[in-house]
Amino acid sequence: MKKLSIIDVPKESLKNKRIFLRVDFNVPIENNKVVDDYRIKKTLPTINYLKDSGAILILASHLSRPKGIELKYSLKPVSEHLSKLLNTQVKFFDIQENNYRDYLRRIKSEVLKLKEGDILLLENIRFDEGEEKNDENLINELYNFGEIYVNDAFGTSHRKHASVYGLALRYNLRLAGILMKNEIEYLYKVKENPIQPFYSIIGGVKVSDKIKVLENLIKVSKKILIGGAMAYTFLKVKGINVGSSIIDEKSLDFAKSFLDKYSEKIILPIDHIVKNSKIMNVEEIMEGYIGMDIGKKTIELFKQELKDAKMIFFNGPLGKFEDKEFSSGTFEIAKFLSELTKRGVITVIGGGDTVSAIHSANLKDEDFSHVSTGGGATLELISGEEMPGIEVLSNV
Ligand code: 3PG
Repeated sequence: MKKLSIIDVPKESLKNKRIFLRVDFNVPIENNKVVDDYRIKKTLPTINYLKDSGAILILASHLSRPKGIELKYSLKPVSEHLSKLLNTQVKFFDIQENNYRDYLRRIKSEVLKLKEGDILLLENIRFDEGEEKNDENLINELYNFGEIYVNDAFGTSHRKHASVYGLALRYNLRLAGILMKNEIEYLYKVKENPIQPFYSIIGGVKVSDKIKVLENLIKVSKKILIGGAMAYTFLKVKGINVGSSIIDEKSLDFAKSFLDKYSEKIILPIDHIVKNSKIMNVEEIMEGYIGMDIGKKTIELFKQELKDAKMIFFNGPLGKFEDKEFSSGTFEIAKFLSELTKRGVITVIGGGDTVSAIHSANLKDEDFSHVSTGGGATLELISGEEMPGIEVLSNV
């Protein structure tokens, strides 16, 4: 999948142009302060590139899932945080109206007055119920704002929403931002034509969340290494004692047929760290005990399996890494992947909890080839679901 991005068009064509830039600033906020700015920071290369090109930026994002105008979901704290990160005043107009479209109409004249290098952040676009409905009337209002459309909101690209999809369709030129460009490049490579030998490491709790992901990855992977609580569902159908570990009962049939079909390609844990037990690294888990992490032998097994890897996709923690005593599986494998990256292996870290895990392991995004900012979006892309926010972008 190749999409046209902001760096593929002449910089001069961006100068003095009003850019409608869809970003994903759906970040946690507490007491009117941004408490995790990871996603905001990941869009800075796009914002800075456009600013340096002399463009005028009109940023739009959603925050959470408000029902109409709910000021606790205002993007004002984000505009303040972004101002600090950019060391420049990001303009933000408070919503005073009872209706988002009246707000848009009021600020339109201000938007038209913006000058080269100015940045404005619109109030939470989901305050308008037309956003999630891809509503034509909302799109008409938004179309007044930008002369060029850019999307850097990878985390929202699985949504067929007005600012992600319908609005883009109005423009001849629909460009990917730098973050979006990288996400597309790495994730479609994983999904469609990874460099071989390619391995997937999949963890997390529920098998049911990952069925389509597993079905797609097995087609392109030399092997899939499974850890996390979801491994116990697979081990159970193999007849291995998993004690009272979490089992995804409704996925037992899937786990059985998946193992029957691909037994050669699936690597399961061979030992475990168990809750409330003095015995470390047990091979079978006794009744009443719960497996919480992969054991030492499994860590070694996984490292051995990966020895000829040229590309690796890692999605889902391998244990309950938030508790120190159950973090070693996830952290050691993450550290190993960072070492492989230095040796030239392409490593792709897939979204959400896995990103929190690598950061908790004191690793940085730069320690890997690519770290995805998507949660649901990353999984849907790998699952082969429709990605309206990507598909709508101009082809190269
Ligand atoms: C996310 O956080 O996964 C994205 O911002 C999408 O949010 P949504 O699931 O509310 O559409």
